[in-house]
Amino acid sequence: MTQPSSIEAVQTMLSRQNYVAGRALSTVVFLALRLGKPLFLEGEPGTGKTEIAKAIAAGLNRRLIRLQCYEGLDAASAVYEWNFPAQMIAIRTAEAAGSADRDALQTDLFSDRYLTERPLLQAMRPHPEGPPVLLIDELDRTDEPFEAFLLEALSDFQVTIPEIGTIHAPEPPIVIVTSNRTREVHDALKRRCLYHWVDYPDFAREMEILTARAPEASAALSREVVAFVQRLRTEDLFKKPGVAETIDWAKCLLALDVISLSPQTIADTLGAVLKYQDDIAKLEGSEAKRLLDEARATLAPA
Ligand SMILES: Nc1ncnc2c1ncn2[C@@H]1O[C@H](COP(=O)(O)OP(=O)(O)OP(=O)(O)O)[C@@H](O)[C@H]1O
Ligand SMILES: [Mg+2]
Repeated sequence: MTQPSSIEAVQTMLSRQNYVAGRALSTVVFLALRLGKPLFLEGEPGTGKTEIAKAIAAGLNRRLIRLQCYEGLDAASAVYEWNFPAQMIAIRTAEAAGSADRDALQTDLFSDRYLTERPLLQAMRPHPEGPPVLLIDELDRTDEPFEAFLLEALSDFQVTIPEIGTIHAPEPPIVIVTSNRTREVHDALKRRCLYHWVDYPDFAREMEILTARAPEASAALSREVVAFVQRLRTEDLFKKPGVAETIDWAKCLLALDVISLSPQTIADTLGAVLKYQDDIAKLEGSEAKRLLDEARATLAPA
């Protein structure tokens, strides 16, 4: 598919992938695509940062290449590695066959045949369907040296392999960087990108998301679930539930044939929403009922 020609077209493209994006998010996506700039998405857990990269890739019919960041991730595992075991076998086989051509073997050992391509290199390669979507997920989990390396790779869209040379992307990939903000990402990297903070959705948008992702849930149950989760997020919790939890919870309730929330069903299924014992303990006793009553009070009669 060609690039969307307007903000509305972006919104439509995403909604076809069951992704609900507000005006602000659709605008930065549109601009990122139009200007060929990386998109930096920071925000609360479970608010659709990773999912939007999948939705853009599917919507544009491009390949999604994901670089999952973690502590200790280094350039080698992000770009390429030599397939050492295969190289060893090739050497042994050549030795056993008494092949004398050492030079040829040496050149062959450092050719594409023994190169294991990691996400960044894959993203620089030409793709028949057009530049891929490169998702650099949870960048805040890596350390600063890797960030500096990434900055360089993202500024000229090229990577260098000493034994082979420099590989330049014929067309830059569509880059999406996400962070949960467990630490600040460096300004230099942010400056290269368009930035958007992904917050928890408001009631109406969360209803839209739930309807898109769990259409089997009745409107009445969905409204209660969303109102309760929204109310829960205003509590002082160690980890607030994300949109992912809202969807999971609705699906659990459906599996149990629940048609309306009650303090008992909440207590029975709270593990789908809250993942820390301290948070769960806060809803013990009459607390769940109080929150449920308050959540219901915010719902206008349907
Ligand atoms: N705007 C949205 N439209 C549709 N689905 C959404 C939306 N936001 C979140 N979701 C749903 O929530 C799930 C979790 O989203 P996702 O994994 O993208 O969150 P995240 O922001 O990457 O979280 P984390 O920071 O924990 O990685 C998705 O699988 C999707 O089903
Ligand atoms: Mg994510």
